[in-house]
Formats: sequence, C-alpha cells, structure tokens
Amino acid sequence: MTPIVSAATTPIIEARGLGKSFVVKRSVFGKAQASVGAVDDISLSLMPGETLAIVGESGCGKSTLGRLLMRLIKPTAGQVLIDGLDVTNISHSAMRHQRRHVQLIFQDPYASLNPRMTIGQTIAEPLMLHDIVPANQRAKRVAELLEMVGLRPEQASRYPHEFSGGQRQRVVIARALASEPKAIICDEAVSALDVSIQAQVLNLLKSLQTQLGLAFVFISHDLGVVKHIADRVAVMYLGRVVEIGTSADIFAAPRHPYTQALLSAIPVAAPPSQQRPKAARLTGDLPSPLSPPEGCRLHTRCPYARPECKLVSMDLDIEANGHANACAFWRELPAQAAEIAREPRNPKLEQLFAAFEAMAATETAAKALQTVTKEG
Ligand SMILES: Nc1ncnc2c1ncn2[C@@H]1O[C@H](COP(=O)(O)OP(=O)(O)O)[C@@H](O)[C@H]1O
Ligand SMILES: [Mg+2]
Repeated sequence: MTPIVSAATTPIIEARGLGKSFVVKRSVFGKAQASVGAVDDISLSLMPGETLAIVGESGCGKSTLGRLLMRLIKPTAGQVLIDGLDVTNISHSAMRHQRRHVQLIFQDPYASLNPRMTIGQTIAEPLMLHDIVPANQRAKRVAELLEMVGLRPEQASRYPHEFSGGQRQRVVIARALASEPKAIICDEAVSALDVSIQAQVLNLLKSLQTQLGLAFVFISHDLGVVKHIADRVAVMYLGRVVEIGTSADIFAAPRHPYTQALLSAIPVAAPPSQQRPKAARLTGDLPSPLSPPEGCRLHTRCPYARPECKLVSMDLDIEANGHANACAFWRELPAQAAEIAREPRNPKLEQLFAAFEAMAATETAAKALQTVTKEG
C-alpha cells in the first residue's frame, strides 16, 4: 500500500514493497549463511517538485534505500518505478539512459570529484555522456550551470582542491543538474558542512527546486536540517518506514514513539527548566540488523512497549490526512507530541533561514542566493 499519494500526476519515483538484503556470510559452497535486511518492505512515492526527507539513525538503511530508488543497486524484493517505468529488472544500458532523470549527491563532495579534472570538465562530462547539448555549446552550458549554483563561469578552469567544502558541494550540484534530472537524491549532502554553509547550500537547493521544479529525496540523520527543506518526512528504523507524513504533521504531531524519541534528541536552546519532559527516551542499543527483533522492531527499546508488541505486525496505520505510522498502540500513548513540536530545533540555522528569507523578499530569491557565495 502506498500512503499519501496526491492522485493526478505520475510519481517521479515509486517504491512498491521494496526490499534489499545483503549476504554477509557464505558457506564454502557459496550458500548464504547470514544476511542483513537493510531495507524491508518499503512503499513510498516521490511526486514532481516535492522534497521527501528520509531520516533515521545511522545503519537504518537510508543510503541503501536511496540507492534502490535510483536503481543503482537491484532490489531483492519489490519494484521501483522511475517516471512510471518499471526499472526493477531493466537492462544496464536502458538504465543508463533512465538514470539521467535521477541524480545522486552525497556527503563528501571531494570524494565525488575527480581531483585531476577541472570543475568545467567535471560538469561537462554528463553533457557529453547524455548528449545534452552540442559540443560547441558545452562551454556556455557549463558557465550557465556554474552561475546557477552561485559560482563564477571563470572558475571552470580551476581544480577541486582550490575550492572550499561548500563550493565543492555546489560543483557537485552543478554536475547533477547538467543531466537535467527530474529528481536529485541528496544523501547526507550537507551533513559535513559548517552550519552557516549548510544553510546556504540548503537555500540553494530550495531556490533550484523553485526555478526548475526539481524533486528531492533528502536523506539525513539530522531532523533540524530536514525541518527546513522537507515537504514530507519518512522516518526509518531498522530497514522499515515507521512513520511518514507531511513535515508539519511529523513535527507537530509525531505519532510513533521512535519519531518522538528522535525529535526529543534534537539539541534545543531553551534552559533546562523549560525543556520538554524526558519522555519518549529510547533505552538500550540499536539491535543488530542481522537479527532484527520479532514483532515491532522497536519493542526492545521502546519506553511504552507491552508484551503484545513482540507479536504485532509493523503495518502502517494510515490516518485520513495520509499521516501513517507503524505503532499498533499509538492512540494510547501519553500526549506529549505537542510539547516536543514547540521546541526550537536549531537556533543558528533558524536565524540564518530568517535572514535568507528577508533577503529573498527584497530581490528575487535566485538573485539573492547568487550573491551569497563568499565562504570562509
Ligand atoms: N554492500 C553492503 N554489504 C553488506 N551490508 C551492507 C551493505 N550496504 C549496507 N549494508 C548494511 O545495511 C544496513 C543499512 O546500511 P545503510 O543503508 O548504509 O544505512 P544508513 O545510510 O541509514 O546509515 C547496515 O547494517 C549496513 O551495514
Ligand atoms: Mg548512509
């Protein structure tokens, strides 16, 4: 079942019961002896122009899901559709063509840039590969792409090491844009950056989304960042989606104890006397993904777990507004969501966003952002 689908249009990416397990141990005869279920029975869709965030602790399967959604790796269960086309079993060459539509950027821009190529060559590569513009127009297109991400055309002849971390991430974004994708999967794309640079890159992504109608899958372990960019949020735990809904619903009325615990863990600016009650704290360690707990996978750590939780399924309970969560007893949990939601998340990031919004109000958003390129 696919929760929250705004009917009319075809999703850019659709996952149906998607699963991926990795064999981590084989017998001498090559028989699988142990496997990690990195992603288990996930159904969701990415609509044109929207930002879907995927959040959860390290190791919960976010990157694997991101790779599955662009069919960089082949699922072991379920289906992936890109722009309505089932790409689950598509040939390598057909996938290469389809891949143009969905690009991936990840945390370490230095690792994704070839140090021996100028950034102009790096950005021109997809233009050639997908034959996007004729050879004699490539330099002009590279210049346009650099300007779109707030860099200067004359910087095309420079090498990656001559740029700061934030500028390198802009180069990576320009390269992703070169193939004119409909969606970009950002896997912890700003996580390694300093908070003020994070805010700049996030604003750049938002402004590109408005200009180009791009959709984003925004993978992050940081809910403070997600709050500023996501239209919808999917929360993952041990390979499963435990809650999905609009950003407003997830932050104002988190249903699942895991989501509530994640929200409680965000550092806040308020003095201790004004901070939220210490509810929804998880106990114990993350279980091994080699043998996830039976029933509700959170039951070993959930502060509200009951004996039945070992037996329940993790099907999503979908409310009328599409907000869905996998806690079988969510209606009976103590009401604390509203208190969590009132907390400021990341005060510095919030200040920076307010400043950007004020700037965007005076000029056009795009122009305002292009002036913000000076980085330390
Ligand atoms: N290629 C692989 N081979 C074996 N196990 C893997 C592989 N990729 C990921 N895993 C395992 O799958 C689980 C999910 O990993 P990942 O998707 O990277 O999580 P996240 O991005 O949320 O940190 C982890 O337990 C990880 O060790
Ligand atoms: Mg990851």
